[in-house]
Formats: sequence, structure tokens, C-alpha cells
Amino acid sequence: MFPQWIIEKKRDGHELSEEDIRWFINGYARDEIPDYQMAAMAMAIFLRGMTPREIAILTDAMMRSGDLVDTSTIKKPKVDKHSTGGIGDKVSLILAPLAACFDIAVPMISGRGLGITGGTLDKLESIPGYRTDLSEKEFLSVIEKCGCSIIGQTARLAPADKKLYALRDVTGTVPSIALITASIMCKKLAEGIDSLILDVKCGRAAFMKNRDDARSLAMSMVNVGREMGKGMAALLTDMNQPLGRTAGNALEVVESIETLMGRGPKDLTDLTVAFAVQMISLANPEADAEKADQECRKKLQDGTAFAKFREMVSLHGGEIAAIDHPALLPQASTKHAVTAARSGFVADVNAEAMGRAVVVLGGGRAKTDDHVDPAVGISGIVKIGEQVEHDQPIMIVHANNSTRLAEALQLLEGAVTVGDSPAKLSPLILETIT
Ligand code: URA
Repeated sequence: MFPQWIIEKKRDGHELSEEDIRWFINGYARDEIPDYQMAAMAMAIFLRGMTPREIAILTDAMMRSGDLVDTSTIKKPKVDKHSTGGIGDKVSLILAPLAACFDIAVPMISGRGLGITGGTLDKLESIPGYRTDLSEKEFLSVIEKCGCSIIGQTARLAPADKKLYALRDVTGTVPSIALITASIMCKKLAEGIDSLILDVKCGRAAFMKNRDDARSLAMSMVNVGREMGKGMAALLTDMNQPLGRTAGNALEVVESIETLMGRGPKDLTDLTVAFAVQMISLANPEADAEKADQECRKKLQDGTAFAKFREMVSLHGGEIAAIDHPALLPQASTKHAVTAARSGFVADVNAEAMGRAVVVLGGGRAKTDDHVDPAVGISGIVKIGEQVEHDQPIMIVHANNSTRLAEALQLLEGAVTVGDSPAKLSPLILETIT
């Protein structure tokens, strides 16, 4: 067999056999197939697509290119959540401890921010001492003790994806439903979960700009998970305005703590609770969704979820003082208020502009190995539908460098639109796929 024969087969629109896919991925993972042939294959897949059967085999081959986490010692149902990424999306920080309050184990392997979307690991690492690089043994031990653990992808977890993702990033082959499905699902399935809930973001600051594409991606991931015997559900959620009122690593940790204590913004609280209810239902299909919703809100109000978060942070080596007193988290030297140019009602808040501004401030990455500044970002972001007065702050920009601040302010010019009458609110959860 020669790699070019398989590339030509896909280039010409034919379905690949199981043997073709496994041989190609194994060869690439072992460095026997070079990047240039994998890049050609990725482009052929991007242009020709893959059948659900091919996608399931590709996912399985990529998952088996590395180690599989053995979670068999954990007796509780193991449920995780994955988001395709958005601005201000700090749901995982709140959801993992909240779900763990319900006799569910949450083995969460998360990613870093890339492009304009933030990453759960970068947010957690703004807590001094928090280790995201636990060994598998430590990871399992934290889950045994407190029910949840959030770590980063180890070198041995789906290494074929690690190589392929970097290659796709520089060959224009990221936005392929087949390749995104295999990339996300191979890592999640390697975690040893029983069920998975997906947050497929849809809107101008998401990978998927329109609902049809978001639905196709969600269905593709749900199909692969089911094919592998996992409980699956997906929510399509809006990503036109940021989630919550903050974007930027430490600022999002502060907002997560507020939400874990029952004082979070409504959209963030509602979305986190919706995911927790789905996780409870996946773990126990008999569960009453309405009752689960009420219990989740109670655990946020009465401090149970916050106590669980504190325990998880402590088991990861994080400084509890910084959780109890968020003023001890990294702080930017300058806080600049952007004010409303007129009175009226907020008609639009551009999440994409805010994501770009956070990257420019130093809170995101242009390249995978860039350092992120945990302190910078935006807080106090107004929400669509709110009434504002002329000169009232509509966001606070946190910066550590005046040149970057000026550039960010330029990007934020016009990011908030104020109109004369209350805007029609679009739903946060666009569709539920169960
Ligand atoms: N996240 C991933 O892990 N892979 C993709 O392809 C896209 C988002």
C-alpha cells in the first residue's frame, strides 16, 4: 500500500475502507507518513467529506493512536461535557464541580485557547499553583476524592490528533465536519467516559456561523459517540454576544466563583444548569429534569457547588486563598472604562470583536506556544436588551500595556450598539439534540 493511493481515492470522492483509514492514521502517528501526505489527505477530506462510517473509523483510529484512560476503578457514571469554544465561555469551571455534587464522576480533559476563543486550562492556570498536568494516577485519585478533575491533554492521549490539529491549523483544513468530529471525539472517548454532552456554539464568534452547520457538526459527533456505545446529547447555543459579563482568564475565574456561589449572571447560570441537567439525565435516564434543575440551582445558592470547586482546586495544588479572596488572583495594572455614547437599549454586543481584543491585550494566543497574560481582559460587559445611560460604563478593559490597550480599544470601537427601543432577545439555547 502507498499513501498516495489512499489520498487519490478520497480525492476522487470514493469511500475509504476501514483498512485504508487505520493504515493511514497509524502510519502518520508513527511518523512513517510525512506531514505533506497527511496535509493532502486532510484537504481531500475537507473537499470531499466523509460518510458517518468513515468518520467513526477515523475517530477510533485517532483515539487508539495513544493511551486510553482506564477509569474502571471509578464506580460512578462518568460524564463529561465539551464545548466547541466561545467568548466568555467559562461553563466547564462551574459545571464540573456542580455535576460532581450529584454522584456523577467528571473526568474532564480540556484544551487551551487558540484563535479568539478562550481555553479552560488557561483560565484554571490563572489560579496560582493549579496544576493542569496531573499524571493519570493523580487524575483518577482526584476524581475518586472529589468527583471531578480538569486537566490538559497528556502527550500520550490521541497523539495523532495533536499532530494533525497543528497541521490543519496551517493548511486551511480546520473547518471540516469530519475532521472536527474526529479531533474532538477521539480525545473525549479516550478519557474513559460513559456519556458526553456537547455544547456546539453557533454565531459570529464560533467555528460554526450558522445553525445548519452547527446542527450537522452536532449530529456528526452525537452519531460517532452513539456508534461507540456512549450516551450522547448536544445543545446548539448562541455565540453572538459573550457568555456572562467577562472575557479573559482570571476575570472569568472570578465570575465562575460568583456563579458557583449563586450570584452569577443569568445567562451563564441558566446555561450551566441546563448542561448539568443533561449530565444528570445521561447518568440516570429516569431523573426528573425539572427537579434536577431546582436541585442544581439550590447547590449553587447554598455553597455546595462552591465547596466542591474549592476541593478540586486544592487537590490540584491551587491556592485556596485566591479562591476565597479573588482580589489575590492576577490583576492588571490599568482598568479602562468604555462608556456609552448615548442613552438607550443595548441592541448588539459583538463577541468576535471582544475575543479579538482579549487576544490583542495578551489574554489569548496567536501560536500554540505563546504565553498568555492571565490578568488582562474585559469585565462589566453589558448584555443585549439592557438599558444604558449616556456616559455609563458598558465594559471595563483590563490591560498591562498601553500600546496593547490602545489597539484593543480600537477593536472595541462600535462593539456595543445602543438603539432606541428594547431589542428582541434571541434564545441562548437554540436546539437540543438528545
Ligand atoms: N477542537 C478540537 O479539539 N479539534 C477541532 O478540530 C476543533 C476544535
